[in-house]
Amino acid sequence: MVSVIALTLSLLALSRSSIATPLQARTQRPCVDFEIPVAVDTTNSDYDIPRVSNTTEAVGFVVSRKGNIYVKKTFTISARLCVPDKGPKSDILQIATHGGGFSKTYWDPQLKPEKYSYVEAALAAGYSILIYDRLGTGQSDKPDAHDIVQFPVQIEILNQFVISARAGKLTASIKHPTLTVPKFNKIVAVGHSIGSILTSGLLTRYPSAVDGAVLTGYLLTPQANTNPPQGLEFARDNGNTRFHNDPNGYVVQGAESDIQHDFFHYGNFEDDALAYAGCNKDTFTIGELLSFGAPVAAPEYSGPLIFPGGEFDQLFCAGYCPGTILEDYMRFKLYPQAKNFQIHIQPGSGHGLTLHTNATGHFQTILSYLVANGL
Ligand SMILES: *[C@@H]1O[C@H](CO)[C@@H](O)[C@H](O)[C@H]1NC(C)=O
Ligand SMILES: *[C@@H]1O[C@H](CO)[C@@H](O)[C@H](O)[C@H]1NC(C)=O
Repeated sequence: MVSVIALTLSLLALSRSSIATPLQARTQRPCVDFEIPVAVDTTNSDYDIPRVSNTTEAVGFVVSRKGNIYVKKTFTISARLCVPDKGPKSDILQIATHGGGFSKTYWDPQLKPEKYSYVEAALAAGYSILIYDRLGTGQSDKPDAHDIVQFPVQIEILNQFVISARAGKLTASIKHPTLTVPKFNKIVAVGHSIGSILTSGLLTRYPSAVDGAVLTGYLLTPQANTNPPQGLEFARDNGNTRFHNDPNGYVVQGAESDIQHDFFHYGNFEDDALAYAGCNKDTFTIGELLSFGAPVAAPEYSGPLIFPGGEFDQLFCAGYCPGTILEDYMRFKLYPQAKNFQIHIQPGSGHGLTLHTNATGHFQTILSYLVANGL
């Protein structure tokens, strides 16, 4: 599985202009929700596994790869774009990719946005920001979970957003009364967890796509948990009506306590934040869990790169990160040309950084780093 991403990524996906459906903007925010068709042209893996159709199988799936699957398809992706009015940095677009178990609301929870919303923090600092539901989550398409929703496809989708944003085509047909969408001059890719792994995949495959990268919740250590997420259940059987129509191969964490175990550090979150994560949890696909593989180097990426991660990250550090991070491996082997490579340990935080009490400290770390690097 090691270099599945490197082996199977191929071909430049063709850009298609966006046909956006304007939806309502959220009250008094310079934001618009829209759907965008994203064309993908890449190669996934053909895994020799049973199609997961119940919880027993979800927990027990086995890995064996039997070939490639060529994917040339267009998917509908649900996105939210926010552009501050004439801000000095509004031509810098951050594109944030959420991790497993969440949807785009990870970056923009409706719970105390002034405290927990990275979108609010980025807007207040003058940046434009795009968040989107990864293929297979939220309101985006939910295609075949084994053959289609794999990392190579997710990386191509992210790259298509970058290409469209640079070409000024991201929201070409959005009619919004007040939102003026500029042509973005600089792009910063921000990821969390699985979203960071796939953002790193973008840096590998398309090293000059973005001007800066922020990979949160992705601290490499020898104790990184390679098991599937805690408490995995077949999504359709989970009892949450949001997943009742999900196809085979879609899985979700069962109980709120499973989510707490993987994402939260006791004593540093509000009950409401855990409840929010529980109510807004989202699915993983078997194809994603199989295809993200071991870390892949991005030897040609030469932009700024920071890794903000929780001090008490359960998934990557078995609960405690300081002193265990493979910093030399990350700096010299994986990202040897990155500019101002930095690791930042966020005190008190577990893996789900945006939902901890000091989330604003996490946000300021990212935003200060960008400013310090001319972004
Ligand atoms: C899960 O599905 C497999 C394959 O169809 C079947 O053999 C097994 O009995 C099922 N388990 C449950 C608990 O339904
Ligand atoms: C909050 O986070 C910031 C940035 O990491 C940090 O400097 C500060 O010490 C943190 N505050 C507390 C109380 O942990």
